[in-house]
Amino acid sequence: MSIISTDISKAVKLLNNEELVAIPTETVYGLAGNIFSEKAVKAIFETKQRPFFNPLIVHIPNIEYLETIVEDIPEKAKLLAEAFWPGPITLVLKKKSIIPDLITGGKDTVAVRIPNHPTILELLNQLKFPLAAPSANPFNRISPTKAEHVENYFKDQIKMVLDGGPCKSGIESTIIGFENGEPVIYRLGSTSIEAIETVVGTIEIKNSSAERSRSQKEVAPDAPGMLERHYAPKTKTILTSNLKEAVVANKDLRIGLLTYNDILNDDAIHFKIVLSESKNLEEAASKLYDALHQLDQQDLDLIIAERLPDYGLGKSINDRLIRATK
Ligand code: TXA
Ligand code: MG
Repeated sequence: MSIISTDISKAVKLLNNEELVAIPTETVYGLAGNIFSEKAVKAIFETKQRPFFNPLIVHIPNIEYLETIVEDIPEKAKLLAEAFWPGPITLVLKKKSIIPDLITGGKDTVAVRIPNHPTILELLNQLKFPLAAPSANPFNRISPTKAEHVENYFKDQIKMVLDGGPCKSGIESTIIGFENGEPVIYRLGSTSIEAIETVVGTIEIKNSSAERSRSQKEVAPDAPGMLERHYAPKTKTILTSNLKEAVVANKDLRIGLLTYNDILNDDAIHFKIVLSESKNLEEAASKLYDALHQLDQQDLDLIIAERLPDYGLGKSINDRLIRATK
């Protein structure tokens, strides 16, 4: 029997009972539990096979709740919260002691956001506690943007996926930390840098994939969403700006193509997904993970992905594609 359901009251019951429920958000599906239940939070880490040093995002119902869990909120954090919440921005702020150490991997900060999806907002309003929710995929695998993706991963481990339809944004939230009151991007995501800069001015990207592949390695990074290999299909994947050349060079393999809007046709290509025929970066972002899930099921030797334009959400998509090739 399917574990997918639209029954919010059933989700409330399970969560009140310290069980996990996969939840829809505007970015990706999350694997959610009561932040105050040690049993539920431990189950999140175990189900995902995620290392305990990698902290979780806390999802809250409204901006007033923020003061219950964090202190010393920088001015620019308030501006960002007002501009983008509910929405795909996560703020890393100084935690109050009410937040269990298990949530934050022992850090003195906590990542928090108000998601923008009617189903999860309704759910959060019916609960007496916030929800810890990482993306609902096993560690290092492709994030889920449909209830079916989660069911395929976890049908034997959890009792329910709360169905909210396909995720509209399709890439995780943008994560912003603060250093001396100044915002810093820890993870590129569904809110573009350009949009953020209109609110707080020029912002630095720390830990971008380009930086990490040059220097750091996979040990307790600042924002472990920045682990090098992440969001990865099982099929070997390469990223290129020259599709034709890559197809010719690999023509003896069973190739799958992930393109922005290219119309390249070649006998060597067994399966192809076009992210946005009209070259719309929002559309491309919303389709990215589902495309990777589909490509990964075609029994291919190689996925060739096309690099997108390096601005707006194109930057965030390229970041995920780079990680998919590691
Ligand atoms: O869109 C999203 O953000 C989705 C949906 C479900 O809300 N969630 C998500 O969670 O992507 P997750 O766990 O897959 O990624 C959260 C990232 C991790 O890379 C984690 O390291 C980082 O947030 N993070 C959490 N707490 C942090 C903290 N205190 N300091 C720095 N990074 C933190
Ligand atoms: Mg994740």
